[in-house]
Amino acid sequence: MDKVSILLLICLFFVLFEGGLGAQDPSVTKVVNITNDLGSRINLLVHCNFHGKFHDENLGLQTLSFHHSFSHSFKSDDVTPKTRFFCFFWWKNGNDVFDLYNPQRDDPRFAAKYSWSIRRKGAYSYDEKNHRWDLLYTWKK
Ligand SMILES: *[C@@H]1O[C@H](CO)[C@@H](O)[C@H](O)[C@H]1NC(C)=O
Repeated sequence: MDKVSILLLICLFFVLFEGGLGAQDPSVTKVVNITNDLGSRINLLVHCNFHGKFHDENLGLQTLSFHHSFSHSFKSDDVTPKTRFFCFFWWKNGNDVFDLYNPQRDDPRFAAKYSWSIRRKGAYSYDEKNHRWDLLYTWKK
């Protein structure tokens, strides 16, 4: 191939690639939602971190009073097998850290919404298909 052909081929690639991206965004917005269900007058302190393909995010310390929620969203194209969304939790009589989103564990279960209920026994994940909360993580002692 001569130089002009190679140049044309490169231009064609860019046109197709840009057109493809502009036409539609194939990524899904994933939402992780955390609710404090520990009990009345028990505050939950939450500090979450997102580790993605393109960026890392430190979401800072949040204080959730009883029945209040915190949520964070990210795009599915920012996910690699190593992506993690993990949070540290503190409340009276307890503290722990665990993954609230891990693609190997969670993508086969849900497509876009990951709802968590933080209770005294552990962390419950909402199963939208079966309409129930499953205990997915028990607090370490
Ligand atoms: C998070 O979950 C709580 C409790 O199920 C709900 O009230 C709230 O609307 C949810 N927030 C988002 C952003 O999905």
